[in-house]
Amino acid sequence: VSQYFCFFLYFTLSLFFLFSPSFFIPTFLRVQFELWDSDDPVPRQELLKKVRGCDGLLCVLTEKIDAEVLDAAGPNLKVLSTMSVGFDHLSLDELKKRGIRIGYTPEVLTDAVAELTVALLLATSRRLIEATHEAKTGGWGTWRTLWLCGHELADSTVGILGLGRIGVAIAERLKPFKVKKFIYTDVEPRPELAEMIQAEYVSMDELARRSDFLAACCALTPETQGICNKKLFSKMKSTSIFINTSRGGVVNQEDLYEALSTGRIAGAGLDVTVPEPLPTNHPLFTLKNCVILPHIASASYTTRNAMSALAANNLLAGLRGEPMPKELPL
Ligand code: DGY
Repeated sequence: VSQYFCFFLYFTLSLFFLFSPSFFIPTFLRVQFELWDSDDPVPRQELLKKVRGCDGLLCVLTEKIDAEVLDAAGPNLKVLSTMSVGFDHLSLDELKKRGIRIGYTPEVLTDAVAELTVALLLATSRRLIEATHEAKTGGWGTWRTLWLCGHELADSTVGILGLGRIGVAIAERLKPFKVKKFIYTDVEPRPELAEMIQAEYVSMDELARRSDFLAACCALTPETQGICNKKLFSKMKSTSIFINTSRGGVVNQEDLYEALSTGRIAGAGLDVTVPEPLPTNHPLFTLKNCVILPHIASASYTTRNAMSALAANNLLAGLRGEPMPKELPL
């Protein structure tokens, strides 16, 4: 699985041997599985057809796992394993109602996502995409004092919206750039994580007002849907940079476009959008101060391998009825 990036697997439990007298031979599990052997998402109709009667299902974030899929699967389905840390593509209520356990892939992608977030922040604040474009297309004239000037991290305040493992990992990487202060907001203070980066807990309002760089790192939930909106952008400094590597749904994109195009904020770097892919004629693509990446935060070979292995191990543990390496508590 890990070598070939099996992005979509359907598992059917066929045989289950339990060697009870042995204290060293554990449980054997034989699975028959069907693989969607493509980098493109499985067509919905194909999924609905193939999932019928399965005991387990391994999916990626492009698959919406809702009542329709679960009904199509039928009562055998015991385990769902998603190869993602995000779970906004899963109907948690429907899964819970049916007693289906869920595996996901936190932690193994923290380094890759944090690294990409720093890269995106620097690309946005130091205008790297604009700069390479100018260099390639003849815009590079003589050295000019204010040409392509951006904003630097040294002596800045970095705000984190939603402090979890990824927020901490981002701050740890930014610290050597001489950031002056880390601040964060969340539903409640997270003292243990905050202590690791000496971050101060502030209100949403303060986060907006004080951040020179504001990174959205929160999960997409009904509470965070559209939380980065006109209200937030209107309180930010005109020199601030907004970064989002969480989910596109946490941002109101019309409000962001307005904030960027009117100079309300200085720039935005987005790895996630709504929809994905973002249509090439989307207004955000017309803005020089908006850097858009195609949801690649976890896209390193090491991390994608680790994610696929963890997703497979979650699934197998779930099928065995054992604790999963990473189970989403419902
Ligand atoms: C996840 O795992 O949720 C990430 O968005 C994938 O990069």
